Amino acid sequence: MNKPCNIAIAGATGEVGRALLAMLEDAALPIDRLYVLASERSEEQTVMYKSRPLLVDMLSDFDFSLVQFAILALPAEVSLLTAERARDAGCRVIDHSAAFRGDESVPLILDGAAPHLLANDLVACPGAPAALLAPLLGVLDELCGIEVAHVTLLGPVSSAGNAGVHELAGQTGELLNARGIEPTVFPVQIAFNCLPLVGSSATHTVPEDERLLRDELARLLERPLSLAVSLVQVPVFYGLSAMVSVQTEAPVDLASLRNAFALRGVVMTDPESDQGVATPVTDAAGHDEVYMSGLRTLPAPLQGLQFWVTADNVRHGAARHSLFVLKNWIKDFKY
Ligand SMILES: NC(=O)c1ccc[n+]([C@@H]2O[C@H](COP(=O)([O-])OP(=O)(O)OC[C@H]3O[C@@H](n4cnc5c(N)ncnc54)[C@H](OP(=O)(O)O)[C@@H]3O)[C@@H](O)[C@H]2O)c1
Repeated sequence: MNKPCNIAIAGATGEVGRALLAMLEDAALPIDRLYVLASERSEEQTVMYKSRPLLVDMLSDFDFSLVQFAILALPAEVSLLTAERARDAGCRVIDHSAAFRGDESVPLILDGAAPHLLANDLVACPGAPAALLAPLLGVLDELCGIEVAHVTLLGPVSSAGNAGVHELAGQTGELLNARGIEPTVFPVQIAFNCLPLVGSSATHTVPEDERLLRDELARLLERPLSLAVSLVQVPVFYGLSAMVSVQTEAPVDLASLRNAFALRGVVMTDPESDQGVATPVTDAAGHDEVYMSGLRTLPAPLQGLQFWVTADNVRHGAARHSLFVLKNWIKDFKY
């Protein structure tokens, strides 16, 4: 019989934390006590869970021996210290930050990962771009062998957390009211604009972001890929999108590929339907699935294919994977 357990969500006031709480409501897990943790900035604030306000506890003085499992949705430098504190108190930890993604001793976990990867007391979840691309590129590699992949990622402002969401909302309001703006999160105006990420800013160091994505994909696919990535910041609140073009070693059979994608839960937009395109706003935001449209072969003499894909960066790109781990850990948590 499963014992009800206690859980802490650290970073519960953030984008990933709030998505986790919403998804936890539907997960019907035997949770006795749920602690929501954040920084002193959130003192005396509440977050909603099952239509009730939960008072936020301070992460800095939280006693992790009160819980069996902790999900960290924190900046990487805070995660590093918090994971250690939690494990020292005997707690199993799932981390959403980049702190442990490159650490070979910490399994990198996606929804559906093999059971042996869940044995560790600390696991890491990949970033939203790797979570979106790894399953798709894995299928492609298996069916036709990837020679080289070109990916243009269109990142929503929530990739930069709460602050990114507030910046887009604030700038939109100010500009519509003919007032001036002062960018703080993104280097220049993001409302009604798009920013090719070709340099460094407060939220991105581009070569570093690209290297991290390549490394995460190599870990998840268990082989390095020839991958060219371009990053564009777009004025969309939620939904990470990618235009993907892949040259393959073998010819592509689109029907088999469609089936293989569908078996992994990808929702293919019907070209005959109303709009025929999957978008971050009309499809991805608020949902857990990956939406694909425009799947077609590359023009001869190229061999390969291209497609457009979009998914919610906090639900599909993050919370879904830690919930998968949590469900499995709780299943094995007995009297
Ligand atoms: N956003 C995405 O699309 C996405 C996707 C995958 C993974 N991730 C990763 O998930 C993590 C969280 O991202 P997010 O988008 O949710 O960020 P966010 O919206 O900025 O939220 C950050 C959370 O961390 C808390 N926090 C920050 N510094 C803290 C400190 N010193 N002590 C205690 N709590 C602290 C914040 O609490 P306060 O509200 O009190 O400041 C807030 O709850 C990051 O590592 C990010 O890279 C994000």
